[in-house]
Order: sequence, then structure tokens, then C-alpha cells
Amino acid sequence: MSGQPNILGLGYYVPDSVLTNPDLEEMVETSDEWITTRTGIKERRIAAEGQGCSELALHASRRALKDAGCDAGDVTHILLATFTPDYCTPTSSCVLQGELGATRCQMAADVGAGCSGFIYSLDLARGLLALDPGATILVVGSEVCTARLNFSDRNTCVLFGDGAGAAVLGGGSEAGPYVVDAIQHSDGTLGHLLPVGREGGSASPYKLGQAVSEDYFIQMKGRELFRHAVRGMADLTTKLLHRNGLSTADVDLFIPHQANLRIIEALAKKLGYPMQNIYVNVDRYGNTSAASVIIALSEAYAAGRITSGDKVLLTAFGAGLTWGSALLQF
Ligand code: ACO
Repeated sequence: MSGQPNILGLGYYVPDSVLTNPDLEEMVETSDEWITTRTGIKERRIAAEGQGCSELALHASRRALKDAGCDAGDVTHILLATFTPDYCTPTSSCVLQGELGATRCQMAADVGAGCSGFIYSLDLARGLLALDPGATILVVGSEVCTARLNFSDRNTCVLFGDGAGAAVLGGGSEAGPYVVDAIQHSDGTLGHLLPVGREGGSASPYKLGQAVSEDYFIQMKGRELFRHAVRGMADLTTKLLHRNGLSTADVDLFIPHQANLRIIEALAKKLGYPMQNIYVNVDRYGNTSAASVIIALSEAYAAGRITSGDKVLLTAFGAGLTWGSALLQF
């Protein structure tokens, strides 16, 4: 192998504070039994007051750089996937660059693709590395979803959590894990199924002193999203495997977006893929959006679930709507 982007290091970070289902029972009319049976989620992590997207990203990035044996000064590009940036501007990727001390960085950009943001960013990094094989690219997914949660809306507040994950990518060498292929899709006609910030953006700006309404927060049509998510992720992973001459039987570990255990089970059934080869941590973290897949990948790698020679398949689905899949060779 040569010319394919190498994965040089992985890392993740989740905040210390845990919000359990019984905690949510105190906040909205719900139950541990409802949340567990409908979603598989038992608890999620919550960022501390004042802990923004870039701070979570900083912890995950430092760990990924350490794993890669790199210094912040080696980083030439930062792609940070998020829908919950610290501010409109400066971007969280620029804040991260400054906090890291990535002084050689030529480009720091936020990527907004909902829960598919990390896989979209991985694909963008492949493009950058094709143009500049000497680049060292920090690809991050970081979210403080709770900043956009309406904690009086039981339809959404039980589903999401906070966290970050990061990967360091470099030009293709003969050895080490690499990205084999990636594929993306989007359908902007379905954006109304998962809007965030229908108020408070440029289309409907707040005036000074105006109170925040429920339209500032995450809203979703859960049932419809469920169907699109299963179909979208199944179609794209099948296409990706097919164009690489592979089938699901060749995949050693499958890491789908951690939104809901029932979506993961329906996806496994549709693909005819065994649940025991699927990495699941949604029970502990909930849906961390763009951070979900990279947290799961880093965690699986650190836990020894991935060994040399393994093929690992990633897939995600999110607001936009967007979806994507990537195939990794370890
Ligand atoms: N506790 C108790 N009852 C609840 C709760 C709750 N937290 N939330 C909703 N309900 C109620 C509803 O009000 C509804 O009551 P009603 O029948 O009196 O109106 C009832 O439960 C059933 O609601 P449904 O929407 O039919 O429940 P469903 O079985 O579809 O589960 C869920 C809802 C979990 C949201 C499911 O549709 C789902 O997971 N969809 C996908 C959502 C998702 O994962 N989105 C993210 C993917 S994209 C991305 O990650 C950005």
C-alpha cells in the first residue's frame, strides 16, 4: 500500500459529569424503562459550565497527537466537525489551533455536517492529502449537544450527550493503518426532519433582549429519521464495500453512528451483519453527533477491539440530511 492516507493516532475525551436516566426522570415526564427500550441509552456525559466545543476537542486532540507521536507543531491542517461551535466566529477549529499551539497550521476550518461530520471531514482530509502528501491533518469531531437541548422536551433531551474524538492523518507510507475508501451523500430536501436553530441564525436572527424560544434548540421527527437513517447507512455501506470488491463478511468491526441501539440493530439486520461484531457505546454516551463515530473508533482501538490486519467500517447519518461511510484497514 502507498498513497493512501495513514491514520497516525487516535484519541477521545468525554466530560466527567454523568446524567443518568433516573436523573432525567426528575426533569421531564419519562422513565428509565422508556429510554432504555426505545434507545438503549442508560447515561450520557455533560460538559461542565463554560466548557465549550473547542475545550473538549483540545483534550481529544492532545491524546490523538500523543498516540501519533506528534507535536502540535507538526499539524498543518485542522478540520473540526461540529454543529455546536463555541461561537459563530472565531471558529472552534481556530480556537483549537491557538490553544494547541499548532503554529505551523495552514488551515483551520469547522465542518458542519451534523452527525456525519467526522466522516465528511475524513474524506476532506483525504482530498487535502492527495494535494499535499506531506500534510499532517488533525480531524476532530467535538460536540456540546447539551448546549442545544431543550431540557423540557422529552422527545429530544434524553437522546444526546457531549464528547469529542480526534484522529491524526498523514501521507501514505508502506506501514500502518490507513483509509481505504470513503463515500458521502446529502439530501437537503429533508433538512426539516432535524432542524437546530430555526431561530437565532441569519434566517431568523434574535433581536437584542429577545427571549430564546424552543426553535433555538434541537427538534426532530424521530420516526421518519429512523427510517431514513437505516436505509441511508445500509445503502452507502453496501455501495462502499461493493466498489472495493468486499462484502460484510470481510469486515472485522463495524462502527455505526451511536444514535440509538434500535437503529443499529435494524441496520445490522438489513445488512445481515452480526451484532457481536458491531461496536456499541450508545448506552454510556448517548448520541454525541459528530463526535460519535470517532469516540467509538478511539475507544474500540484503546480497548484492543481492533488489531493489525482488521478491516473497520464506519458509517454515520445526521442533520442536513447527510450520511457517509468509510473503510479503514488496520
Ligand atoms: N419518555 C417517555 N415518552 C416519550 C419520550 C420520552 N423521553 N419521548 C417521546 N415519548 C412519547 C411520545 O410523546 C409518544 O407519545 P404519544 O404516542 O402519546 O404521542 C410516544 O412516546 C411514542 O413516540 P414515538 O415517536 O412513536 O416513539 P418511537 O418508538 O419512534 O421512539 C425515538 C422515539 C427514540 C426518538 C425514535 O423514533 C428514534 O430513535 N428515532 C431516531 C432519532 C434519532 O436517532 N435521531 C438522530 C439520528 S440523526 C442524528 O443523529 C443527528
